[in-house]
Amino acid sequence: MYTPGRKSKELYERAKKVFPAGVSYTIRYFEPHPFYVKKAKGCRVHDVDGNVYIDYWMGHGALILGHNHPLMVKAIKEAAEIGTHIGLVNEYEVMYAEQVVKMIPSAEMIKFTNSGTEANMYAVRLARTYTKRSKIGKFEGGWHGGYDALHVGVSYPFNKPESGGLTEGATKDTILLPFNDLEEVEKKFREHEFACVVIEPVLGAGGCIPADKEFLKGLRELCDDTGTLLIFDEVITGFRLSPGGGQKFYGVYPDITVLGKILGGGGLPVGAFCARKEIMELLDHTKYPDASTRAFHGGTYSANPLVCYVGTKILRELEKGYIYNHINKLGEKIIKELDEIFQKYNFQAFSSGVGSMVGIHFTKEKPTDARKANTTKNVELVKKYHAHLLNNGIVVIKPTLPHLFISNAHTENEIEEFLRVTEEFVKKHSQ
Ligand SMILES: Cc1ncc(COP(=O)(O)O)c(C=O)c1O
Repeated sequence: MYTPGRKSKELYERAKKVFPAGVSYTIRYFEPHPFYVKKAKGCRVHDVDGNVYIDYWMGHGALILGHNHPLMVKAIKEAAEIGTHIGLVNEYEVMYAEQVVKMIPSAEMIKFTNSGTEANMYAVRLARTYTKRSKIGKFEGGWHGGYDALHVGVSYPFNKPESGGLTEGATKDTILLPFNDLEEVEKKFREHEFACVVIEPVLGAGGCIPADKEFLKGLRELCDDTGTLLIFDEVITGFRLSPGGGQKFYGVYPDITVLGKILGGGGLPVGAFCARKEIMELLDHTKYPDASTRAFHGGTYSANPLVCYVGTKILRELEKGYIYNHINKLGEKIIKELDEIFQKYNFQAFSSGVGSMVGIHFTKEKPTDARKANTTKNVELVKKYHAHLLNNGIVVIKPTLPHLFISNAHTENEIEEFLRVTEEFVKKHSQ
């Protein structure tokens, strides 16, 4: 069991009175309760009791440059002088849009939102407007945020409602598809006419499981053959797998791209959806004065100058490309050496991932989809592992499905420490 400090406990007791379960987002809870962060810098977080943790959570994967990167701090200060929220159009939104469109290969036009959830919602609405169809395909284990129509089939065994309040009307047009299984997906395409299919090029919350390139290519062809729009949810992979995201990395291009997390410069809330002009023009009210023929998008804080100014500065830095060699090398090292540790002790576990996304699975076989990542999982042991990491000053996302996001602030030293602490656990728990 993980033992948080006394001050964290006190804060948790107060938090329980004002937040259900004491947390501001369910995923932030772990047993017996989370530690409370006082400050963060680089790849480390410091809690209120003076404990320091190597952070592989990294702001849910948003902080590709690390916590409080000097460039970001400087940009935020500059932006505060401009005005954090104006509500009228401003030059910074044009600059930001131009920068994103330049970096994301399949994008010609863009709309900004305040979160990945919102961006997915609007992307699906746009696809439905374009195709004049209703059904949407999504993959088992895919997490696209809390939008009703995509909040389906996220958690194993993928056959129960993911929340109360999801009406049949809101979810009946959502068809679940098996990840990395083109034959089964083809069958579903024969049974249904889709407006769009939404996929993460690498399952993120589903366990950092990459799509096979051939699978993605096959999916692209299926969409082309059936007039279905392919949506890449690149909220995690965007600006992480490469400056041009997962689409550039795989060389497979979607019709619509959804962005978030790193898009905000690693610290500011934002989302976006972008596509070629022909699709995005369906949001143009001057071309389509009849509201029922176009797709609506809006938002009080969308394209506020704070996020536009800071986001542009950070994206320009990422565009230089130098960080990707570093984070991908660390990712490769951790993925390879984790498997070596598991094999050395004949321990039933596998790593997964690509680039700077790493998943750890206490399963009987290496998972290629979220179903396999769960069917043979040793849940009790994986929870113990999570607690062991915390007790040794390491924080990763999710006790039951540990996954890591590596930032440019991590070095070989932090990776070595992670491997050392993991080996200690594996050694102790191998038969
Ligand atoms: C792939 C993916 N899409 C969408 C979302 C939702 O984004 P947000 O939390 O900004 O609403 C997330 C969040 O974790 C995500 O990982």
